Amino acid sequence: MESATLRINNISGHLTTSGVRGGGQCPFSQKSTAPLACPEKAWSVINTSPHAKPNPIRVLVTGAAGQIAYSLVFMIASGQMFGPYQPVVLHLLDIPKMQEVLNGVVMELNDGAFPLLAGTVATTDVKTAFMGIQVCLMVGAFPRGPGMQRSDLLKMNANIFKEQGAALAKYAARGVKVLVVGNPANTNAYIACLAAKADLPSTNFSALTRLDQNRAVSMIAERVGVPVAKVKNVSIWGNHSLTQVPDVTNAVIQDFPEKGLTTPVLTAVNDNKWLEESFIPQVQNRGAAVIAARKLSSAASAANAIVGHMRDWVLGTKDGETVSMAVVSDGSYNIPKGLVFSFPVQCRAGEWSIVQGLKITPFIQLKLDATTKELQSEIDALPK
Ligand SMILES: NC(=O)c1ccc[n+]([C@@H]2O[C@H](COP(=O)([O-])OP(=O)(O)OC[C@H]3O[C@@H](n4cnc5c(N)ncnc54)[C@H](O)[C@@H]3O)[C@@H](O)[C@H]2O)c1
Repeated sequence: MESATLRINNISGHLTTSGVRGGGQCPFSQKSTAPLACPEKAWSVINTSPHAKPNPIRVLVTGAAGQIAYSLVFMIASGQMFGPYQPVVLHLLDIPKMQEVLNGVVMELNDGAFPLLAGTVATTDVKTAFMGIQVCLMVGAFPRGPGMQRSDLLKMNANIFKEQGAALAKYAARGVKVLVVGNPANTNAYIACLAAKADLPSTNFSALTRLDQNRAVSMIAERVGVPVAKVKNVSIWGNHSLTQVPDVTNAVIQDFPEKGLTTPVLTAVNDNKWLEESFIPQVQNRGAAVIAARKLSSAASAANAIVGHMRDWVLGTKDGETVSMAVVSDGSYNIPKGLVFSFPVQCRAGEWSIVQGLKITPFIQLKLDATTKELQSEIDALPK
């Protein structure tokens, strides 16, 4: 790849091009020996103690010259993703024609003088970008152009995510946590996971539906007239697309109608017609509504959702709370194994698990069937 640049600022270590594959020891994946503030919950490479001298964690953002990244990288550098005691080295990847813009992003990161930013590696070279990374935020994707067929989009992105999945397998730390954001996010994650299958477990891969969850929570909070923080366990099932399934069957509102009481969202809203005919389509179409208003797609809210997704994965979800992550199905809720499907999950010590035994109403089941069908058709449309 042409015009690759490697920039390392303020890092005492070096990037190496060996020693991260197979049984090799990744120089950046040592487990912290520092005492953790909540050792039963946080991923052990994340430092949560103010008294330790932690190793920086290497975090790759692809599509780093794009608009989501322009919010995201500053949130990471300021400690919002990994907490106030965990330094980061940001790896930033974009395509060669965006090199100049990428340089500008690095200039602004430097000008931010973030105490937690231990260095940046801005590059257009895939190998350099993926070397030794422990967290991978795959934001970069080929956008759908005017007149472009969905099958063409799938094909363009299949090539990108196949290459980057292979790079993960080859160069990233074995425990790398991958979050795919670039659309079609679930299917791109499926492709990257498949490309890395021989070297990385499928549990390392996920796709973003947290923005859909946040949108749904916000709409419920507004409808009931409570702060968003009081709305718990709203779920998004399935594909990050128009067939996604926002579901409040198991959601509750804390301290409602008065402090100390917890009320099901279904009871608090008390309007099934609104939930089925207004709430669900509004969540499904929120992205389009933002584009219509802003003339640009959601960016800051997407960055915030990415931070929330990864923060909960590495630091753990709160007791009794669920979040939505698209992960590789293990057959739970009769979703075909292998599909990257959004489920309600809980996270502890850097591992997610699908919440079992939730009630699925016949109305929601029909929608689960439709989103499953769509995901299967996306996979069927991929180049063989
Ligand atoms: N899952 C979600 O909830 C969600 C939400 C919002 C946006 N998205 C998706 O996220 C993606 C990024 O959105 P954006 O607004 O930042 O777009 P953007 O067009 O502003 O930025 C995308 C960046 O990716 C880069 N890129 C393209 N191919 C690349 C490659 N092979 N390697 C590295 N970088 C590459 C582009 O050059 C560009 O800088 C889009 O696909 C968008 O649809 C998903």
